[in-house]
Amino acid sequence: MDGSNHFYIHNARIVNEGKIFAGDILIQNGKIARIMGRNSLTEDVVMDPRTEYVDATGCILLPGGIDEHVHFRDPGLTHKGDFVSESRAAVAGGICTVMDMPNTVPQTTTNALWEEKQASAEGRMFTNYAFYLGATNGNFEGIRNADPNRVAGIKLFLGSSTGNMLLSDDTVLERLFKWQGLPFAAHCEDEGIIRNNLAAAKEQYGENVPFRMHPQIRSAEACLLSTKKAVDAANKYNAPLHILHVSTAQELELLTDTHPEITMEVCPSYLFFCDEDYDRLGCRMKCNPAIKGRRDREALLNALQQGRIRCAGSDHAPHTWEEKDKPYLQSPSGMPMVAHTLPLLLELVWENRLKLAQVPELLSHNPAKLFRISNKGFIREGYDADLVIVEEVEPETVTRDNLPYRCGWSPLEGKSLHYRIRSTFVNGKRVYHKGKFAKKAEGQPLHFER
Ligand code: DOR
Ligand code: ZN
Repeated sequence: MDGSNHFYIHNARIVNEGKIFAGDILIQNGKIARIMGRNSLTEDVVMDPRTEYVDATGCILLPGGIDEHVHFRDPGLTHKGDFVSESRAAVAGGICTVMDMPNTVPQTTTNALWEEKQASAEGRMFTNYAFYLGATNGNFEGIRNADPNRVAGIKLFLGSSTGNMLLSDDTVLERLFKWQGLPFAAHCEDEGIIRNNLAAAKEQYGENVPFRMHPQIRSAEACLLSTKKAVDAANKYNAPLHILHVSTAQELELLTDTHPEITMEVCPSYLFFCDEDYDRLGCRMKCNPAIKGRRDREALLNALQQGRIRCAGSDHAPHTWEEKDKPYLQSPSGMPMVAHTLPLLLELVWENRLKLAQVPELLSHNPAKLFRISNKGFIREGYDADLVIVEEVEPETVTRDNLPYRCGWSPLEGKSLHYRIRSTFVNGKRVYHKGKFAKKAEGQPLHFER
């Protein structure tokens, strides 16, 4: 499977930039060389003799997924996952590019540590990649010197979560927004509210706080207050701000036409689960922010349908089952999801909750536009050949033995899915095909046009 970056993909249902059409794609030297309409094998195409023919009859072809929110755990937490294991999982799920978060060990909060991470990813990533820098109360000077063409963005943990990275000084937040030299991606939950709610829950339940208390502890109020603070500060300086993993109906009301650079991301866990699932799934669905109520889930789905939510990131945050399978107070938040984000979005299409053409908007076009990624996110001639071939299948059940994650578990176990990723091409190389992976990890660092 390794080697070639010349392919002729024939007769796919191509979904791109609002259009769905039957056509062919010629990949040459890793780039999209030609996009052709129906029966275009008859057209005058000069094929390199090395070109491999791919029959995609009956399959959907999408631009490769760009997941702007993953936690790959490398360095320092590699027993949960590392660049190799999790980027393999990503390509198995049709994700060609990941943007990785800074709550590793050590935390990526200086340019030197960022450079180390970037260097360590070379030759170990099956996907293309970029890394965020984390903001702290004390690293603004470093952030100002970050390379805008290579750094994904600045992660703002306005509430602390796994890894305890926290930006609590509001004056620093304002300085960052005033500077606005890089895109901001924010985790918004109010620390004070959470602390009080947690103390009350411990008072009530002692050490045996039930998992269903999670959305009462990490409450809608905590999300709204923090998101509002971030939005108000961004508005003050007219700064672009991407709010990660929105989880409540109320936060959506903060989106306005007057400031379109305030954008939001939702993750599949908030679309497929709600508070009624805690008694069944327990620790498996504990994540931060907490998964809220059925009405929140409906509001998020509506906003997604209406195009008000711009990105669907995985928030892939693996923990080993041994770490996870603990009582509420000890169980770490987060779940693996990078390989299931595209299949789950397609599941929403199956359920008539989303249009097929919206899937690449959420997972390719918009992240490429928001972060200004060069040459990716669209099926366009001259662009990098990051492509996914998807087939519709008899429903297949997610089970522990068909999971690609190092951590080996998923909150989706038992769920049936109607779409399966057949092949994933990254920079024109077929890195995943019918359960098999390329041997070499040749993903490239992203370049941003800023
Ligand atoms: O549930 C979560 N897990 N939320 C976060 O903000 C961090 C993540 C992790 O890194 O485990
Ligand atoms: Zn996250």
